[in-house]
Amino acid sequence: MARASSIHVCSDCGHETPRWHGQCPGCGAWNTLVEEAVARPTPNGRRGGGGGGGQAVAPVALGEVRAEAVARLSTGIGELDRVLGGGVVPGSLVLIGGSPGIGKSTLTTMALANLVAAGRRVLYVSAEESAAQIKLRAERLGPGPDRPALRIPVIAETDLGAVLATLERERPEVCVVDSVQTLHSAGLSGAPGSVGQVREVAGEIMRVAKTHGIAVLLVGHVTKEGALAGPRVLEHLVDCVLQFEGERERTYRTLRTLKNRFGSTSEAGVFEMRQDGLVEVLDASARFVGEATRAPGSVVLAAMEGSRPLLVEVQALVSESDLEIPRRVVSGIDRNRLALVLAVLARHGGVGVGTSDVFVNVVGGVRVDEPGADLAVALAVASASRGIALTSAPTAPVRPGAAGAGRGEAAAGAGEPADPLLACFGELGLTGELRTVAHAERRIAEARKFGLRTIVTPEAGTLRAALRTLRRPEPAQAPRKVAAR
Ligand code: TYD
Ligand code: MG
Repeated sequence: MARASSIHVCSDCGHETPRWHGQCPGCGAWNTLVEEAVARPTPNGRRGGGGGGGQAVAPVALGEVRAEAVARLSTGIGELDRVLGGGVVPGSLVLIGGSPGIGKSTLTTMALANLVAAGRRVLYVSAEESAAQIKLRAERLGPGPDRPALRIPVIAETDLGAVLATLERERPEVCVVDSVQTLHSAGLSGAPGSVGQVREVAGEIMRVAKTHGIAVLLVGHVTKEGALAGPRVLEHLVDCVLQFEGERERTYRTLRTLKNRFGSTSEAGVFEMRQDGLVEVLDASARFVGEATRAPGSVVLAAMEGSRPLLVEVQALVSESDLEIPRRVVSGIDRNRLALVLAVLARHGGVGVGTSDVFVNVVGGVRVDEPGADLAVALAVASASRGIALTSAPTAPVRPGAAGAGRGEAAAGAGEPADPLLACFGELGLTGELRTVAHAERRIAEARKFGLRTIVTPEAGTLRAALRTLRRPEPAQAPRKVAAR
């Protein structure tokens, strides 16, 4: 019975076979057969999916569609609510992806604790950890007087059928399923986490959740490459996909929206992992600028984290290599992007690092996957290679009126630094030109806010012009041809 309830379908040609094969008997493609549950008979006895025989439905003009304003449920975690577009939408399905140990269970437990404290019905389904392990985590969180984290109802269950039955009976308003790869449907023979299983598990949970208006936070593991063997196949199914990023050993983590049917996809939140759970970092720019060094090889990048500007420190180290093929080690930026920047630096900037090892790091474990980071990487590498720190001279031209506006804590905390930091952003073109990037005004405003007055922007025109910031300060100040606005 269990075997007969599933078939294997080729994801390329659609060929169906009762048993799994490595190679599709239909089209000959390898590893394309995915197990699927046989469609259940519909109430009128027909197998679903067939053409004809259905009831006609009257179309409605969009203007007449009644859309009730949904009251969102606040998770009590500001950054999470913002990333979700203002809180959890009742009845929605949210997929939270991230590598193991990044803090998915911590974040979802904290959200449920806040919802419990607000009097909401919740349920935590753990298919990964025992109830005792979840309790241990909950004890570290929320040391408040009534310890809401300890009032979260949990089940530790790996069988999909049991989970669905529990959902039907308990009817929580918000449910966490941790994780989608460890639940198992008895109807399919595939191992938990296989594409067929993950699809079946998510599909069934969605069916029950939509019927009863249960908002579900599905936790899923993602590999480092983002290949998400399981959860990627769910992206079209769920309403919202959040990605939890950062490195396990680092304290800072970012939560990004990859898809959101109820809000913007350009949001991101920054968290810090502490002893007692994840803490929102509201003043991330101030932190990173405050910690920034003024040594050669360091520069502040005015980046965009979603729709929010964020100042981060980019560091580079260039050292003589003893290898035939020198090392190119990156953290927080794309490796291929570094290759491009190094090539442009050598060809158009006069900075060749061909025989040296190059290390580039975005401090704090932040990832900046945007073209606007190019200039920062180029300046950091050039600065490291020449051993000259990037600083803005006090004579730097300043746009009148905007200069003193809101000097940030970073600068204020360090007193009046003699050599204020310099910020930059811009994309590098292959011919050595600087290209404009989105949200220039907001990046500049953020840098100003934290007391960075010299900002090298794409208005500098070319990489060569931008590199002039690297000149050693001369006694008679040379005219600065850098767009400092
Ligand atoms: P976890 O949420 O279990 O990660 P995931 O579910 O994504 O696999 O926890 C991640 C790490 O965070 C874990 O190694 C322990 C650490 N941690 C803290 O540092 N502080 C805390 O309060 C908690 C709960 C966990
Ligand atoms: Mg976990």
